[in-house]
Amino acid sequence: MEPAVTTEHVQTDFQDGILTLQFNRPEKKNALTPAMYSALVDGFRRADDDGAVRVILLTGTEGCFTSGNDLTDFLNTPPDGESSPVFQFLMAIFLARKPVVAAVSGTAVGIGTTMLLHCDLVYAGASAVFQMPFVNLGLCPEAGSTLLLPRMMGHQRAAELLLLGEPFGAEAAREIGIVNIVCPDGELLETARVRAMQLAAQPPAAVRLAKSLLKRRTLADLRETIAEEVWCFRERLRSPEATEAMTAFLERRRPNFSRFI
Ligand code: COA
Repeated sequence: MEPAVTTEHVQTDFQDGILTLQFNRPEKKNALTPAMYSALVDGFRRADDDGAVRVILLTGTEGCFTSGNDLTDFLNTPPDGESSPVFQFLMAIFLARKPVVAAVSGTAVGIGTTMLLHCDLVYAGASAVFQMPFVNLGLCPEAGSTLLLPRMMGHQRAAELLLLGEPFGAEAAREIGIVNIVCPDGELLETARVRAMQLAAQPPAAVRLAKSLLKRRTLADLRETIAEEVWCFRERLRSPEATEAMTAFLERRRPNFSRFI
């Protein structure tokens, strides 16, 4: 494989057939910027093109997977539909032909949780915390979560997670099917790596075929759902509700939605 490209905030590493893509912006809780999405897309492309890559491993830094999209970017330069790096990233993870493993330590917010719905194996440290606060931010759910979550857990449980947007722990994430195994925080990376190596040793064409067969029924529905969510998300990003919610976060105050109808 060509040397993996490491950028300022996305660290890459290639060993034993495993391409590790690490969110590495701890001072901002690994909040994802357009440059980071583009680096991740590049990693997914390389993995797809290069036969030596058997598995992609997504991880963050200790105590933080990612706090989701950078909210300052959402306010100042909102992504514009399907040409945006965030959309390209969603397509890359959703259409990845090779298996994707995630190791979640600490916080996984917004797309930090919804990207896991497109991974094949997900491992979480015991203190991991998940949250999908799209509605809380005046936005709408994305990444196909409005299709995948109700299919996984039924309408009421999906509605609770998406409409109230409250944080939930690693055990709850395992119970609803987002996470395979919860392990002690200190054993997370080793656990994920051992499973990734196991996958890397499997016959690669059979793995790719099994993955595509597993996903084939949801593929068309997901494409349509993601496209519709992207359209709504784009509108919501420019809404007064979202502006109030995101400004409140950056000003470290509670948002006030009482004037909205
Ligand atoms: N976008 C931009 N900046 C972010 C961010 C995000 N998604 N998440 C955290 N940060 C920044 C904070 O503004 C702060 O920056 P500062 O030190 O320059 O003030 C820094 O990262 C540390 O965050 P802080 O809130 O102090 O850490 P915490 O441990 O108290 O809380 C979180 C961590 C992740 C729970 C909290 O930061 C949070 O809720 N972030 C927003 C998550 C979110 O709504 N994501 C978008 C979903 S669509």
